[in-house]
Amino acid sequence: MIIEVKSEAEMKALAEKIGTQLKGGEVFELIGDIGAGKTTFTKGLARGLAIDDDVQSPSFTISRMYEARDGLQLAHYDFYRLDDPGIMTNELAEFANDATTVTVVEWADVVEGVLPKDRMRIRITTPTETSRTVEITGFANEERL
Ligand SMILES: Nc1ncnc2c1ncn2[C@@H]1O[C@H](COP(=O)(O)OP(=O)(O)OP(=O)(O)O)[C@@H](O)[C@H]1O
Ligand SMILES: [Mg+2]
Repeated sequence: MIIEVKSEAEMKALAEKIGTQLKGGEVFELIGDIGAGKTTFTKGLARGLAIDDDVQSPSFTISRMYEARDGLQLAHYDFYRLDDPGIMTNELAEFANDATTVTVVEWADVVEGVLPKDRMRIRITTPTETSRTVEITGFANEERL
């Protein structure tokens, strides 16, 4: 499905709605250019997972972990400009298969091989400075968005 959001707040609200419906074990691939809103989407998802910490872009550390509601955790990866993810690949593969982890990956091309086929894809394009087109595939409860 395709959803148009008109502001950063609307993007977060959409992601929060998705976040509240997660049960653990989900993997998200976030696709979009620099500044598209991938990290902004992740902040909203974190809100839906009742994460109190401020979610920051993991660009320099590659991954960040957050404790979430119901014994879940959020693993947030960003592989921007990383040619060799090395040992991070194993860690990601483990979390992606863990039923208590929600895994979110920005710039996933380099780890494509370890992501499960039934992942959710969030593709964000930027028609204007403040509007975004969000294409969601693989989310089971589309009627609840
Ligand atoms: N409708 C919108 N949805 C999301 N972000 C928006 C929107 N309108 C404006 N923005 C702005 O766009 C920027 C998105 O930045 P963000 O860090 O989320 O992008 P990103 O896709 O994670 O980029 P990067 O590839 O560098 O990690 C923010 O500055 C945000 O305020
Ligand atoms: Mg980002």
